[in-house]
Amino acid sequence: MTVVAIDGIGGHLGQEIEIRGWVYNLRSSGSIHFVLLRDGTGILQAVAVRQDLPSDVFEAVGALTQESSVIVAGVAREDRRAPGGYELSLRRLSVLQTAEAYPITPKEHGVEFLMDHRHLWLRSSRPRAIMRVRAEVERAICDYLDDRGYVRMDTPILTPSACEGTTTLFETPYFERRAYLTQSGQLYNEANAAALGRVYCFGPTFRAEKSKTRRHLTEFWMIEPEAAFLDLEGCMALEEEMVAHVVQRVLDRRRQELLTLERDLAPLERVRPPFPRLSYDEAAERLRERGHPVRWGDDFGGDEETVISKLHDRPVFIHRYPAECKAFYMRPDPARPEVVLGADLLASEGYGEIIGGGERIYDPGLLEQRLREANLPRAEYEWYLDLRRYGSVPHSGFGIGIERTVAWICGLEHVRETIPYPRLINRLYP
Ligand code: 4AD
Ligand code: MG
Repeated sequence: MTVVAIDGIGGHLGQEIEIRGWVYNLRSSGSIHFVLLRDGTGILQAVAVRQDLPSDVFEAVGALTQESSVIVAGVAREDRRAPGGYELSLRRLSVLQTAEAYPITPKEHGVEFLMDHRHLWLRSSRPRAIMRVRAEVERAICDYLDDRGYVRMDTPILTPSACEGTTTLFETPYFERRAYLTQSGQLYNEANAAALGRVYCFGPTFRAEKSKTRRHLTEFWMIEPEAAFLDLEGCMALEEEMVAHVVQRVLDRRRQELLTLERDLAPLERVRPPFPRLSYDEAAERLRERGHPVRWGDDFGGDEETVISKLHDRPVFIHRYPAECKAFYMRPDPARPEVVLGADLLASEGYGEIIGGGERIYDPGLLEQRLREANLPRAEYEWYLDLRRYGSVPHSGFGIGIERTVAWICGLEHVRETIPYPRLINRLYP
């Protein structure tokens, strides 16, 4: 007997096959049972007809409970009315485990209840669609960078120092001293770029975010490219090409999942370079005109980003932020040292920042000064200063947050649905 995955059933019509999976739903009409089976690759309707089956088999099918694990054999055929377009005439059933009363039923559940049952909720069609889009986004980014000569180099999770400010560090005992969970692989990427030219890292990053917003997780995944001899213009060009590539890829390969999520595809179809570019000053002006006063020097919050990102029909760059609201490593604009040569990319439709990046300081004296101003312990950054002492070159890079990108592409309200097991200020379970 051939074991077949549901998404491959079209190649086995008329044959007796075996499907291994779980019971998604059961409907009965006296002499016929309709069992929806799922196996992770798709949903298949199996039909059990009383007059065609030994009575014990027919009774066993009728006693199946939601999420029971089963092996089912039968003959597959095409049926336009069935979900997925195929149907299995059930001949044999073996029940591996009869599931207890399943907590997630077709009725409405609150999001906290679903999050408490995230380990089970993942079996539902919406999370499954989102996880497939997430996997496609990750693969599309890696493919894009691999094809352009970027070498993946993994960076450490346990680190002695901060990259993105000391207020969101997770501290952990490390033998006789303490360590921090990494906020970003960037500083190591810079060393790696001096070794291999073009590199990227891809890993979990951690921030003790005390804010409860729909955009913040305490553990999130980032892909961070870094390249020697790349300037801000080149960096933004790489970002927009990459983001357009990723969106196109999801439209090509995960359209069905987007439709399951009832995503409006038209705004995604418009995600093509070039993306508009606004300076911080221009963005602040747009905000003031719309009744959002901005003090020059303050970073934009979620509300401001939403306003800006709704002004355009595609993602938008904001560049040259005031140095005072950005990280210590950002290179000041030589023409105007109070702003830095960095840019954020805001996703369209109100989603806000999905990428942060730009040029890094490559002058050793200036970097030392900025470390002092940021009150960072110089000893932990000696190695980072070395990069400016031994063949310093202009270089740039950026970090794209996977969860925010997936939330945008899928059209979701909150990033918590984009990661299998979200970590939030008030959630560490399951
Ligand atoms: O803007 P951020 O803080 O930039 C960096 O970490 C740089 N070191 C990256 C680099 O240049 N190599 O973070 C980059 C992106 C954000 O644009 C956002 O998409 C995501 O990481 N991000 C978060 N996503 C979810 N939850 C959080 N708490 C996030 N913080 C940042
Ligand atoms: Mg940022």
